[in-house]
Amino acid sequence: MASCICFLVLFSMFFVFAAGEIMEENELVGLFEVMDSLLDDTSWGEMHPLPCTDTPWPGVQCEIAGDLNSPIFHITKIHIGPDILSPPCCKFNATLSSKALLKLPYLKTLSLFNCFTGSPVYIPSTLFGTFSTLELLALRSNPTLFGEIPSSLAKVPTLRVLSLSQNNLYGRIPKEIGGMVSLEQLDLSYNKLSGSIPQEIGGLRSLTILDLSWNGLQGELPYSLGQLQHLEKIDFSSNKLQGRVPQDVGHLKELVLLDFSHNLLTGPIPETLSGLQKLEYLIIEDNPINSGLPLFIGRLKKLKVLSFSGCGLTGPLLTSLSHLDGLIALSLDNNNLSDTVTPALGMLPNLDHLNLSHNFLTGEVSLPEGFINRLGKRLDLGGNVGLCTRQKFKKTNKMSPSFLQTPSCLETRGPAALDHSNNIKKVKPVWYQDSNMSSGSGRLDHQSFEFGSTFLVCFLISLI
Ligand SMILES: *[C@@H]1O[C@H](CO)[C@@H](O)[C@H](O)[C@H]1NC(C)=O
Ligand SMILES: *[C@@H]1O[C@H](CO)[C@@H](O)[C@H](O)[C@H]1NC(C)=O
Ligand SMILES: *[C@@H]1O[C@H](CO)[C@@H](O)[C@H](O)[C@H]1NC(C)=O
Ligand SMILES: *[C@@H]1O[C@H](CO)[C@@H](O)[C@H](O)[C@H]1NC(C)=O
Repeated sequence: MASCICFLVLFSMFFVFAAGEIMEENELVGLFEVMDSLLDDTSWGEMHPLPCTDTPWPGVQCEIAGDLNSPIFHITKIHIGPDILSPPCCKFNATLSSKALLKLPYLKTLSLFNCFTGSPVYIPSTLFGTFSTLELLALRSNPTLFGEIPSSLAKVPTLRVLSLSQNNLYGRIPKEIGGMVSLEQLDLSYNKLSGSIPQEIGGLRSLTILDLSWNGLQGELPYSLGQLQHLEKIDFSSNKLQGRVPQDVGHLKELVLLDFSHNLLTGPIPETLSGLQKLEYLIIEDNPINSGLPLFIGRLKKLKVLSFSGCGLTGPLLTSLSHLDGLIALSLDNNNLSDTVTPALGMLPNLDHLNLSHNFLTGEVSLPEGFINRLGKRLDLGGNVGLCTRQKFKKTNKMSPSFLQTPSCLETRGPAALDHSNNIKKVKPVWYQDSNMSSGSGRLDHQSFEFGSTFLVCFLISLI
């Protein structure tokens, strides 16, 4: 055996020198069997007889145990993916062999990316019983990885990262998952999981990332979510979740991203969410919220991206939105928002995308011209038949953001203005109060005429 051997650690460029190489025979055989069950290349074992030392392979990593005089090498990581070898690296009939993996008791990382693409593969329930040291399991982008997530995965108490994203897994999320107290990241996105999210998920006390997006999950959100005190990112988008957002979600003080978009959630959004003081991304779009914009929104000072598109929101645009100095994108399109466009939105220093299209907004758009020029096509006020634009912008602005399709305020005596006389009646826009009522606003003239004539009719009837 070589008296001086070199050991290359994956991705890091330092070498460990040790005297002699000792590996347990069983472990080496296990590695060869695993590689044989996965790889197209049947000569992998011949090419890498000493995978921890003389003949390393970038997807396999070893660690030294024992003292330096008699070191023992253990296989600690197997990673196969397009970043390791030019694909295809896995064979058509690649399998997950728990029998072979059982021989690798020191494995910490098993990561197979885009490996199962031919014949169907199921996650064997015996797989999880075999690991006692596994910290990261990532089986991602495997189109022919089918079946249910075995409940036996809860038998791996050391697991910190579980990513089963972009496979074809179906069935329910096993409730046993709640027992994985060390789990920090759980990503089950882009599968065909169904049923409800188990209440037991509240047991994952170390969780920082929870991504269940793009599945067929149903039922209500578990109230136990509030127990996940370290959660920074929660993504439940594109499922069929219903009911209200639980009050306890407001306890998630570390939350930076909350994405519940494309579900069937109903409103109102609980006031407790005002406690999410680190929240930067609040994405609720495409849910039948059907209530007003939450009043507390203006208190979420860290918000960068806020989307309530297509949520059936009613009522006015809140002026408190203009307190959100960090806001970069605001999407409130496709709602039933009424009243005027708050001019103060145009003072938000970082706002770069504003979509208020397809609402029932009315009145004159009085956003600062500099703001309109800055956003260009990223400003969308289209589909608000009651909105009008000051002539001034039409002449000076060479760009054509779709809002400029809104008619000039002088031209709005037509049916569009009449359609929205109801909205105007409810709340008079601020700018009406200090403008000269008798000049220019055909809408208001009509409005007072309507009121006047109704009053006259009533008066006459009462006389009779
Ligand atoms: C996998 O396919 C190869 C040929 O591509 C064949 O020799 C081998 O027996 C197959 N293995 C299994 C487990 O089906
Ligand atoms: C929003 O407006 C549409 C069209 O007028 C109406 O059908 C719908 O019921 C309204 N939704 C709410 C929540 O008011
Ligand atoms: C605004 O939202 C609508 C959908 O409601 C979309 O069609 C349009 O492209 C969006 N505009 C911008 C500028 O993003
Ligand atoms: C409103 O405008 C008319 C002329 O259009 C003017 O005579 C009147 O004094 C103005 N009233 C106020 C309050 O500015």
